[in-house]
Amino acid sequence: MKNRSLISINDHTKEELIGILDRAEKFEKKPKQHIMPQAVVATLFFEPSTRTRLSFESAANQLGARVIGFSDTSSTSVQKGESLKDTILTVCQYADIIIMRHPVEGSARFASEVATIPVVNAGDGANQHPTQCLLDLYSIRKTQGTLDNLNIALVGDLKYGRTVHSLTEAMCHFNTTFHLVSPEALKLPSAVKHHIKEKNLEYHQYTDLMECIEKVDILYMTRIQRERFTDPIGYEKVKNFYILKNSMLSNAKSNLRILHPLPRVNEIDEDVDSNPKAYYFQQALNGVYVRQAILSSILGVEPEN
Ligand code: CP
Repeated sequence: MKNRSLISINDHTKEELIGILDRAEKFEKKPKQHIMPQAVVATLFFEPSTRTRLSFESAANQLGARVIGFSDTSSTSVQKGESLKDTILTVCQYADIIIMRHPVEGSARFASEVATIPVVNAGDGANQHPTQCLLDLYSIRKTQGTLDNLNIALVGDLKYGRTVHSLTEAMCHFNTTFHLVSPEALKLPSAVKHHIKEKNLEYHQYTDLMECIEKVDILYMTRIQRERFTDPIGYEKVKNFYILKNSMLSNAKSNLRILHPLPRVNEIDEDVDSNPKAYYFQQALNGVYVRQAILSSILGVEPEN
């Protein structure tokens, strides 16, 4: 991925995705590797984040790089009316790579087209979240020992969930059977289902989570995202549609692991946290290794063995 932007998971081959996972394994074995002491990483977050920004900053620090940026626009010249293009062109003068989250779909692609340095999409509206996808793939491979031939349930906001869109498209490389669990109003968009159909893979749609919980290897829970609804009544109708409780897991497969990109609100009861199948906080840790792999790969620096 040297010198390339990372905007959509679909821009990269299966081999490239696996290459990042293999590289991340090296960082898991030895996270502190000061192999990028000259690099400056810019984190531009136009939308809130805890895990993505902090794990990128942790990854950069552990690689010996310097970090500049902002976590919201209130103290930036965006408040004076500066355009996204001008912000990007300016930051290109100060950094070697841009990590950007923005609420507008397509904004990361636009930024990569005007930038003179690589841009990494840290989430663009309801569209894509490719670095989350890579850490999800890493977590699935680590817990299941393989990415091939798995049954995966995607639960919650499949319509606006950018992590779901990226993960579905990536898992199409691995002969996955998809179990799509959502309220009627939040079904997976046709454009994403098209990827599943193109690969002649199976998908099944449900509104009741209990109909598939015993069949799956991965239960990927997601938050119903209030910020994506224009109509507050629409959000109120679905906000507590799924609440996973420990008692619901009694007949689950022994290898099942529960993933969630986080943050969670109510969709996983805290009584699940002590269940050995709960993997969402380890998943967040995997984000550091995967983001070390992404930064070093794009900036063309090899990890130590
Ligand atoms: N998973 C994820 O994107 O979390 P943050 O919004 O906290 O970055």
